[in-house]
Amino acid sequence: MSRRKIAAGNWKMNTTFEDGMELARKISHASIPEDVEVILGIPYVYLKPAIDMLLHVPKVSVAAQNCHSKEKGAYTGEISTHMLSSISCPYVYIGHSERREYFNESSEELADKVDRAFAQKLDIVFCCGESLEIRKSGNQNEYVCRQIEESLFHLTKEQFRKLVIAYEPIWAIGTGETASPGQAQEMHNAIRSSFAAKYGDEVAATIPILYGGSVKSANAEEIFSQADVDGGLVGGASLDAEHFEKIINSFS
Ligand code: PGA
Repeated sequence: MSRRKIAAGNWKMNTTFEDGMELARKISHASIPEDVEVILGIPYVYLKPAIDMLLHVPKVSVAAQNCHSKEKGAYTGEISTHMLSSISCPYVYIGHSERREYFNESSEELADKVDRAFAQKLDIVFCCGESLEIRKSGNQNEYVCRQIEESLFHLTKEQFRKLVIAYEPIWAIGTGETASPGQAQEMHNAIRSSFAAKYGDEVAATIPILYGGSVKSANAEEIFSQADVDGGLVGGASLDAEHFEKIINSFS
């Protein structure tokens, strides 16, 4: 079964407007294999200009790195999914570990964000992953599957099949330490099996599951070659256009 192949960047709170647009421009000229999709997770304030810049660039789209869980109202400084859809932003990342950890986002709040994103027809990259402590305890599969269950298993089959999942072990994010290809495959397989148990084999087989956590051009090929790994969510290495282009070209 062939699934979508996705190389997703996550700029986090990096780049100036000028540098960000230059990075997007370089990626728009990058060589991208026919069957690979590229998503750039860029800061809110550059979304609209980046969307305009990439309007006629096939296979490259953008994502907001977050959204609010409420429809609208008195939430000073926040960004709603309605705002994102009003600038034709196609994707939103939900549940990144930095949001969970530094902004105390609970599974329940993330479920609300997911619903808000669906209400505005945004495509979702839903992130999950365990801490080092949980990995050491050996309960990582149960923990990650529970994160998914708590925020996503209320969805209908039709909604669920539109998701993209990103498994990102917290201990590998920005640390230079990656999960081994075997560890990534084992988790991705556990996640896919949980999808199959809830939504059936056919749905489970179609959902792209990306790996994130210190993906670099030097390790991308081996990680992406795993049977249940359908691409990467890339932080640091997506800030360098040449480096990210190599990652985009690391699918077999
Ligand atoms: P990293 O970040 O590639 O810098 O480890 C990944 C992420 O947080 O999405």
